[in-house]
Amino acid sequence: MRNLTQPDLALLAFAREVKPHAYAPYSVFRVGAAVYAGGEIFQGVNVENAAYGATLCAERGAVMAAVAAGCREIDAIAVAGDSESPTVPCGSCRQVLAEFNPAMRVIMGGRTDEVLVMSLEELLPEAFVRGYLDQDEPGAPE
Ligand code: THU
Repeated sequence: MRNLTQPDLALLAFAREVKPHAYAPYSVFRVGAAVYAGGEIFQGVNVENAAYGATLCAERGAVMAAVAAGCREIDAIAVAGDSESPTVPCGSCRQVLAEFNPAMRVIMGGRTDEVLVMSLEELLPEAFVRGYLDQDEPGAPE
């Protein structure tokens, strides 16, 4: 757990700002996300689909926008969901985020003023990252 800062709240405001654009007719659970990378903000929302498995989470939408703009390292992500308590990123999103900085700051909010701040390492310890694909990497699986 980390202390909440003013930049955290500013990033969370971007996530909250975009949340109304979520396309969530099936779950009716809207999520907005804002990534801070390369000094810029990239927003995303969850986009659901009639074929439920084709749904994309807000966090991954924001990451795709940042990567498409040329970013390869993400400093922080804010997530704002419709839940009472702060909305945490799903397991798949944690894995996707780890690709672009396993130590990034993750700011989470819900419908109330409660805000949770953690590092991605806290949310996804021992992440599988590209180093494991290097056969000379010490500690990598055989
Ligand atoms: N969802 C996100 O966008 N991010 C999360 O962190 C949790 C879940 C979306 C996926 C789906 O559209 C809806 O929330 C319900 O699972």
